[in-house]
Amino acid sequence: MPAKKKYNYPKSLPLLKFFWLSEAIRKNPIPFHNSFFSTYGDTFSVKIGFKRRLLLSRDKDLTKHILQGNHKNYYKSKIQTRYLSKYLGNGLLTANGDFWLKQRRLIQPAFHKEKMQQLIGLMEKTIVTELKEIPLGKPVPVFEVMNQLAFKVVGTSLFHVSASEELLKRLQYIIQEVQEFLVKEIRLPHKGWWFKLRGEIKKHKNLSEESRTIIKNIIEARKSSNETHGDLLDMLLATRYEDTSEAMSTKQLIDEITILFVAGHETTANALTFTTFLLAKHPNVCDKILEEIVQVESETVIVSEQLSKLQYTRACIDESMRLYPPAWITDRENLEDDTIGDFHLRKNTLIGVSFYELHRNPAYWERPNEFDPERFLGENKKKTAGVYYPFGAGPRMCIGLGFAIYEMVLAISYIVKNYKLSTSQDIIELNPLITLKPIGVEVKFEERLV
Ligand code: HEM
Repeated sequence: MPAKKKYNYPKSLPLLKFFWLSEAIRKNPIPFHNSFFSTYGDTFSVKIGFKRRLLLSRDKDLTKHILQGNHKNYYKSKIQTRYLSKYLGNGLLTANGDFWLKQRRLIQPAFHKEKMQQLIGLMEKTIVTELKEIPLGKPVPVFEVMNQLAFKVVGTSLFHVSASEELLKRLQYIIQEVQEFLVKEIRLPHKGWWFKLRGEIKKHKNLSEESRTIIKNIIEARKSSNETHGDLLDMLLATRYEDTSEAMSTKQLIDEITILFVAGHETTANALTFTTFLLAKHPNVCDKILEEIVQVESETVIVSEQLSKLQYTRACIDESMRLYPPAWITDRENLEDDTIGDFHLRKNTLIGVSFYELHRNPAYWERPNEFDPERFLGENKKKTAGVYYPFGAGPRMCIGLGFAIYEMVLAISYIVKNYKLSTSQDIIELNPLITLKPIGVEVKFEERLV
């Protein structure tokens, strides 16, 4: 009788096929993932070293296991930690283990519901200022509008009036430049030597130093002014470590603020772009949102109450993030050997979960590719538990969930209340890397007269 194998992995994608397709997969992995899942099952593996495997999954039980059930055994991979921290520093998004936990405990209170409600006024003002400038009557590149909006919302929520328009613009420029270069480095690892030779690595390190200096100056000015503004910076300055009762060091605060900028603006800009496009394609859904707004505004004038009552608007955003999850994939590595269902995995296995594919898995969703906000209303919503992860799950779930939802409901309700939307495009081209970016989405905005 053959000896029992110590490890047991899901069906394997042939190595030759993987190498053959690797260049095309690197450019846009989404269609390949879909075809591999259809052929090899909801979790498949690829050999990526002598003893190492990569697993890719759209399975709900595996996802729950690594993000929640046995999360202590699963760390974020080096792509998410080492690469990102090179320019962004070591903070919530890029740390693992005890240090991550310490930071999460410290920062979490700044994102509690009551604190977020204090930011609504500031957010609303910024959103209205940005959206009322949208040019009317011609196709508008939506991502550019939403990217600007989302950056400003994070910027003013963090720094209120402490950062001038000019400084925020410079920060936005640097953060975007550095992020784009980071993406290049991840996509083209074999060109590392070339980037170094051309001085690109040094240039981007200098840029990230410059952004750190800008943030540092704002922090020091705030500290010495003794003024309070009720913004996120105030909250982050006031928070204390449980064990020592000490505040965060300025260096750590700079890392965390940089990370909040990065994690908080592109994701939201993507979601707002996808949602605006889907609404432009579904005027009947816009009519329903409008009806809801009129109803809710007649019930209360308090904006925080209005936001929690705009359930249909929220369902449209949820459904948009089901079809196009801005954080479309995540990964983890197991610290120790582990068993998940029938699989027995050696430690250090790299596991990717495609939220994009999980959200469209025909085993969990009826008419998976259709836009239908009703899925997230009333009793229907129960069916989405465990198969819907736009903000991740478990202890590393997005800390900015409440922030993002307030921002998106404010923006989408303002758009529908003030504009009629249309588009001549039928599909959205996708650029999936760290986030799922929409390419070239154009929508026409016209003043809504009734
Ligand atoms: C639509 C908007 C957003 C989406 C879809 C989103 C999605 C996510 C997801 C899926 C994760 C978990 C990743 C993983 O487990 O590997 C995450 C983590 C995180 N997000 Fe968001 N996010 C959004 C907005 C924001 C905003 C507005 C902020 C801050 C202002 C933010 C800050 C963070 C941070 C700091 C983490 C790391 C948390 C930790 O590991 O403890 N995000 N986000």
